[in-house]
Amino acid sequence: MTNLLQVCDLTLHYGKFLALKDINIHIEAGEIVAVIGANGAGKSSLIKAITGLAPPSSGSVLFEGKNLTNSQTSSVVRAGIAVVPEGRRIFPSLSVEENILMGRDVAGLTDNSGSPWTLERIYDLFPVLEEKRKLSGTQLSGGQQQMIAISRALMTNPRVLLCDEISLGLAPTIINQLYDQLRLLVKEGLAVLIVEQAMRTALSVSSRYYCMLEGQISLSGLSSDADEEAVIRAYFGRSV
Ligand SMILES: Nc1ncnc2c1ncn2[C@@H]1O[C@H](COP(=O)(O)OP(=O)(O)OP(=O)(O)O)[C@@H](O)[C@H]1O
Ligand SMILES: [Mg+2]
Repeated sequence: MTNLLQVCDLTLHYGKFLALKDINIHIEAGEIVAVIGANGAGKSSLIKAITGLAPPSSGSVLFEGKNLTNSQTSSVVRAGIAVVPEGRRIFPSLSVEENILMGRDVAGLTDNSGSPWTLERIYDLFPVLEEKRKLSGTQLSGGQQQMIAISRALMTNPRVLLCDEISLGLAPTIINQLYDQLRLLVKEGLAVLIVEQAMRTALSVSSRYYCMLEGQISLSGLSSDADEEAVIRAYFGRSV
């Protein structure tokens, strides 16, 4: 069987600095997979390497068996991989609705492209965004801005959504709301990769996990079977 998204022996350098070493991960339709790791472990670098923002030194990124390694970010998005970036990156000069529609433009989709993602569907998912659609994107709360970032990514019509620390700085009730909505989408067949420093949150919402330490996968398995002490050791690289 072909994996939906498969990363094989991926290595990434920034100059001489080795940021990722021999990373192997995969994700299938209909699952939430977590990549957990401390500050600087390489989580965002992994997303950047998958999406062509940071060219890997070696290894490959396969999507439905097609080689996307070293592809331009726009081609990766059009193939069906979308990112909810670290820090949300909402454009302050654009309204909530314009920020959301950016996703469609980035993917080269048009109003009548037949994409399953429309503004109506986004507003069903996050009704508060419809109420606030005319405000500047950055006038909204942190949680609502995260909803915009997720919506913008969904408007590219992805098969895989890569989410970089969507829980950061948000209250637990908002985090639960966001993850509840992502769970609904996963039931419909979307694949979601969540990158999180928040180990317990990530393990509670995912079916499988990979733990990263200093650019390598230090542990992986089923989230429901995760042994907390072992994960903590793999996360910090020592007993705590
Ligand atoms: N553009 C860059 N140039 C040089 N080094 C970089 C660059 N981006 C990241 N790094 C380094 O690569 C390592 C991994 O960084 P990365 O941002 O991938 O970590 P992270 O796991 O996402 O951390 P955080 O949880 O803080 O977001 C860090 O040591 C970081 O300083
Ligand atoms: Mg990061």
